[in-house]
Amino acid sequence: MGRGLQVVLVAMLMAVAAASIAAPLHTADALRMRNGHGLFNDNCSACHQRDGAGLPGAFPNLAKSDFLQTCPPCAIDFVVNGHTGRVIVNGKPYDGSMPPIGTGLTDQDIADILTYVLNSWGNHGPTVTGAEVAGVRRGGGR
Ligand code: HEC
Repeated sequence: MGRGLQVVLVAMLMAVAAASIAAPLHTADALRMRNGHGLFNDNCSACHQRDGAGLPGAFPNLAKSDFLQTCPPCAIDFVVNGHTGRVIVNGKPYDGSMPPIGTGLTDQDIADILTYVLNSWGNHGPTVTGAEVAGVRRGGGR
């Protein structure tokens, strides 16, 4: 084996080791992130886009959304009950309508979607549990 190749292989091994040490989420959370990623693409990305950037003037961004990160229960409420009317995201007003997408999803699936959203694209939010989603569903809103 040439020395150049050896150096490349060692560098790759170190990168893999560093990535696994740096992984911020536990294994159970990683599985929930994977489930949430797929469900997000199926249920949310048509409007909010796969990268969470939204569409200016029509669909608010989820990536780096101050609204989402300062109030995860509000986000659960939007998904479970939908929302029509004004909402301000990062200083920009939206006055649209989001249907109650969560009606056909389980509490755990909604929790996984929001855990994915809150921990992707530069968001550093908390994780969301199925029990928290169940609480919002029972309360009929915020
Ligand atoms: C049919 C289009 C559409 C779909 C599908 C959709 N949304 Fe929305 N979403 C909107 C609109 C429009 C708003 C702004 C509502 C308003 O102005 O009252 C919004 C607002 C939000 C907000 C609050 C504002 C923000 O950017 O932080 C969150 C959180 C959110 N959506 C999450 C989701 C998630 C998670 C899904 C999938 C489970 C989803 N949405 C699916 C259209 C959609």
